[in-house]
Amino acid sequence: MTDGKHPHPNPPPQAGEGNKQAFGVYVHWPFCLSKCPYCDFNSHVRHAPIDEARFASAFAREIETTAARIPGRQVSSIFLGGGTPSLMQPHTVGAVLDAIGKHWQVADDVEVTLEANPTSVEATRFRGYRAAGVNRVSLGVQALDDASLKALGRLHTAREALDAVAIARTAFDRYSFDLIYARPDQTPDMWADELKLAISEAAEHLSLYQLTIEEGTPFFGLHAAGKLKTPDEAVARALYDVTQDVCAAHGLPSYEISNHARPGAECKHNLVYWRGEEYAGVGPGAHGRLDINGTRHAVATEKRPEAWLMRVEANGHGVTTDDLLNSEERADEFLLMGLRLAEGIDPKRYAALSGRTLDPARIAILRDEGAITVDADGRLRVTQSGFPVLDAVVADLAA
Ligand SMILES: C[S@@+](CC[C@H](N)C(=O)[O-])C[C@H]1O[C@@H](n2cnc3c(N)ncnc32)[C@H](O)[C@@H]1O
Ligand code: SF4
Repeated sequence: MTDGKHPHPNPPPQAGEGNKQAFGVYVHWPFCLSKCPYCDFNSHVRHAPIDEARFASAFAREIETTAARIPGRQVSSIFLGGGTPSLMQPHTVGAVLDAIGKHWQVADDVEVTLEANPTSVEATRFRGYRAAGVNRVSLGVQALDDASLKALGRLHTAREALDAVAIARTAFDRYSFDLIYARPDQTPDMWADELKLAISEAAEHLSLYQLTIEEGTPFFGLHAAGKLKTPDEAVARALYDVTQDVCAAHGLPSYEISNHARPGAECKHNLVYWRGEEYAGVGPGAHGRLDINGTRHAVATEKRPEAWLMRVEANGHGVTTDDLLNSEERADEFLLMGLRLAEGIDPKRYAALSGRTLDPARIAILRDEGAITVDADGRLRVTQSGFPVLDAVVADLAA
């Protein structure tokens, strides 16, 4: 996901150790069948049919324009996110992947992930996606009981979601699913049981997001009016600890604040963001980080789908923001993203980006407080007790 939005025995390979030239392409499909009351992603409901052929042509044009700005890259990962990309016809997905392959070289071991909602209708398309070139799906299961799914406004039941997971297992070598925790009335014991069931169904990867009450969503209004009660800080912390402990005990340690994988099964694409590598964003409201003539550009496109379409048809791209990041901004972003990872960050890279070293006194205080650890080679990692206060740790280090 790049349109907006959580320690370890075997960390994945470090940036600079064989992953140096990672380059990802994010493609945003902005439509959903209905809007979930907690979600503030760039997703829209349309009652008229979507002109997929027109969108496919616009994606191809925007890919061509972006590739002209950053030619010669080798694509190591592609992520079709949303919205609900599993509403796309497989041939639309195929057309997007063909356009990427036409304008950039694609690595032999490219990871191609598609986000899918776990309804029975969408699962019927999984084999078509596989044939189109997708080799990994990420399913938005969200909860494994029907009452919670209903409260979250989801259109599927737990049975239907698990059936979709089973179909994903037969169609793809790699799949992951998302759950949302810290839901109203959820206790740590209930969550531990749900997690164990999830782990028994998830082969290699789980994304576990703490429910966030986002401004502007129906949940925000309900929460403000006292009609939606989320766990207090102590329970939220206990839920977080259960998440870490149960997943680690079952062989899926967290490699990022909200992502858990068997060692070696980490999502390559998301690692591109967190390691500060280069990626292109295509489609309405997509973000990219492009390295042009030694300068990093933070790029974002028009969010409204039809307005994006018109811009692309007129100009060849839907870019509305193209900011050059100065060294300080680039280094802060590196810190903010990199400290989400269990592998942590190399302060030497921070120094190379910003031109200044992190303050040893601040590092020492955070280490003494138990929020971070410092490896023998100086690498900084946030601890399990530091992760719940990650924003404060980052702010402290970046100050
Ligand atoms: C933007 S959705 C796209 C996937 C797909 N449309 C779906 O809903 O299954 C990606 C994931 O973000 C997570 N998410 C979205 N809003 C959230 C919120 N307010 N709090 C926590 N997680 C959230 C959900 O787990 C969801 O699967
Ligand atoms: S289906 Fe996914 S992207 Fe669409 S509104 Fe729901 S959570 Fe958001």
